[in-house]
Amino acid sequence: MRVNLLPEEVRSHIASGEVIEGPAECLKELLENSLDAEATRVEVEIVKGGKRFIGVRDNGMGIPAEDLPKALLGGATSKIRTLEDLQNLHTYGYRGEALHAISLVSRMVIRSRFYQEEVGREVRVEGGKVTSQRAVGMQVGTHVEVYDLFYNLPLRKAFLGKEDRERRRIYHIFKALALANPSVFFRLEAEGREVFRLKPGDIRERAEEVFEERMEHLSFEEKPFRVDLLLSLGNTRKVPFLFVNRRPVHNKELIEYLKKSVGRWGLCICHISMPPYLLDVNVHPKKTEVRLMKEGKIREIIREALRNRHSLRPPSLSQERAVYAQDPEFVGIIDNTLIVAKYGDYLYFFDQHLLSERYNYEMGMSAEEACGMSFKAGDRLGRELARELLRRWLHFKNREVCPHGRPIYYRIYLGELYRKLGREY
Ligand SMILES: Nc1ncnc2c1ncn2[C@@H]1O[C@H](COP(=O)(O)OP(=O)(O)OP(=O)(O)O)[C@@H](O)[C@H]1O
Ligand SMILES: [Mg+2]
Repeated sequence: MRVNLLPEEVRSHIASGEVIEGPAECLKELLENSLDAEATRVEVEIVKGGKRFIGVRDNGMGIPAEDLPKALLGGATSKIRTLEDLQNLHTYGYRGEALHAISLVSRMVIRSRFYQEEVGREVRVEGGKVTSQRAVGMQVGTHVEVYDLFYNLPLRKAFLGKEDRERRRIYHIFKALALANPSVFFRLEAEGREVFRLKPGDIRERAEEVFEERMEHLSFEEKPFRVDLLLSLGNTRKVPFLFVNRRPVHNKELIEYLKKSVGRWGLCICHISMPPYLLDVNVHPKKTEVRLMKEGKIREIIREALRNRHSLRPPSLSQERAVYAQDPEFVGIIDNTLIVAKYGDYLYFFDQHLLSERYNYEMGMSAEEACGMSFKAGDRLGRELARELLRRWLHFKNREVCPHGRPIYYRIYLGELYRKLGREY
């Protein structure tokens, strides 16, 4: 992208402030640059939780060789030229300071080849000073390497978290941007081991790959707003992810609202699309705290989207207690595949896939839908959902076979078990 020096008027409008708190913030800036450059493939490598090394390689449009030093100078961005541009932002970056900020506090190597050029250029910077430049042969795209973050600021370096903690923060940022950009291939390698390899897909496929859980996708649109919700059926409760126009954002009120209205679900990912002029991303220098105009409208749309959820839903606690006594007695789950329960004089082994498939079928889905929407063998159900399934099973029209005719369970007569053990039943 062509890099322009911003006029002072624009620069002063952009909240300044320290951007790079640690490796995760550094990675965030690099990833955002790659995405802004329209990369379809982004590969990340970190060493020692990013404290020793962070590398991001992309196949985006690259930076023209003559602009590369400018990009490192600070105040240089290819993304906006005027104040109006700020109000219609479609890119992640716009301040033209991230690369500069990183280069000041690390040893950085940046290699880039602009898509209209035959060769790439490599610039090495240490503590903000360019130490070497040369032409390099490379594919179109950009490769940024950041070594020894805060090597020249011992105090800030001392305040970095333990390796594990920094690594977790890195994963969080990586996941957030990967969830927001499902059509981009992402890969992350940490300490020499591949941790994520995410194929391009839609938002649901991406979420399922990132969390290795089945997700339900609900959406509702009322122009010019659209909400897409992804809910996991697992029951480990996590803080919802919120995105506005593909940007991971914080908005405390909306997060609280999501938690409240989604109820006892595992994971919730909420994508909101709306015209950029209806949000104010400039509230926070890190661009993550967003104020939304028409927040009430957005809540309404979330509510509408949730109304459409129709597959398995975890029970409320009070319901659970009320019926527990007469229900099959949940014994356990084996291999995340078999639900074991005692009911009457039998020990039952249910196939969790077939059982949930039957359930969805009984709820009115076609056999094909039911199959696609159901838990698979290997999915982590949790005891709450297993119990709920067992309870529902009692009221099935057909308790014996799945929609394709496979038996849902295998059972053993308890008298037989007892007899084998030399006991009377
Ligand atoms: N991976 C990349 N691919 C192509 N161009 C890039 C890449 N990284 C940086 N650039 C160019 O360098 C410029 C400076 O990047 P930098 O991240 O410092 O600023 P910015 O993205 O414009 O704004 P912000 O500071 O808000 O991130 C960008 O405007 C862009 O033109
Ligand atoms: Mg940037």
